[in-house]
Amino acid sequence: MTDVTETPPLSDTEPATSHQPMTHFKSFAESTAEDWAIIGPQLANTQALVADKVIEQLRYLKHDHGGFPVDRLEHSLQTATRAERDGRDDDYVVCALLHDIGDNFAPYNHPDIAAAIVKTRVSEANHWMVQHHGIFQGEYFWHHIGLDRDTHLQFVDSPYYDYTREFCAKYDQTAFDSDYKSNPLEHYEPLLQEFFAPK
Ligand SMILES: [Fe+2]
Ligand SMILES: [Fe+2]
Repeated sequence: MTDVTETPPLSDTEPATSHQPMTHFKSFAESTAEDWAIIGPQLANTQALVADKVIEQLRYLKHDHGGFPVDRLEHSLQTATRAERDGRDDDYVVCALLHDIGDNFAPYNHPDIAAAIVKTRVSEANHWMVQHHGIFQGEYFWHHIGLDRDTHLQFVDSPYYDYTREFCAKYDQTAFDSDYKSNPLEHYEPLLQEFFAPK
């Protein structure tokens, strides 16, 4: 017998929040406290879908290599795998896995995308590392494209300077090896579900 309290599975075309109560104002200016009492709790429903959206976006990175020796998903997995095998904790590994997730949303400022996604869930050090990794990664190639590879030096007084430089040195700039055996995305899915679960 079907458990009537169970939330029915969603179809591809059904909005994820279709079973939740809705408000009916036409502008924020006319919304009421009662409206916001309906909306507020539903933020957790949206948060519950974040891990699936993140995994979907990571899968999409498989389809883009941008000229690099490995596709963008493999680079992400390889960065995370290298960090995990080096004994880094779960938050750090998630940051490593997601650091380039914005590559095809904002190619010229992609660190901002990942930094925003992890911001409320990681330490200030990990957030700073993700947000600034692009400039630190520049140490390894910017001199080839007419940029200053020492741009990272502007942050030398930051408490997170060495931490971020180490991330690029050990895990990010090394993660383009097509012979490396990275963990599959499925290995990280439970970790992502736990990381993004509503609190
Ligand atoms: Fe990057
Ligand atoms: Fe990267």
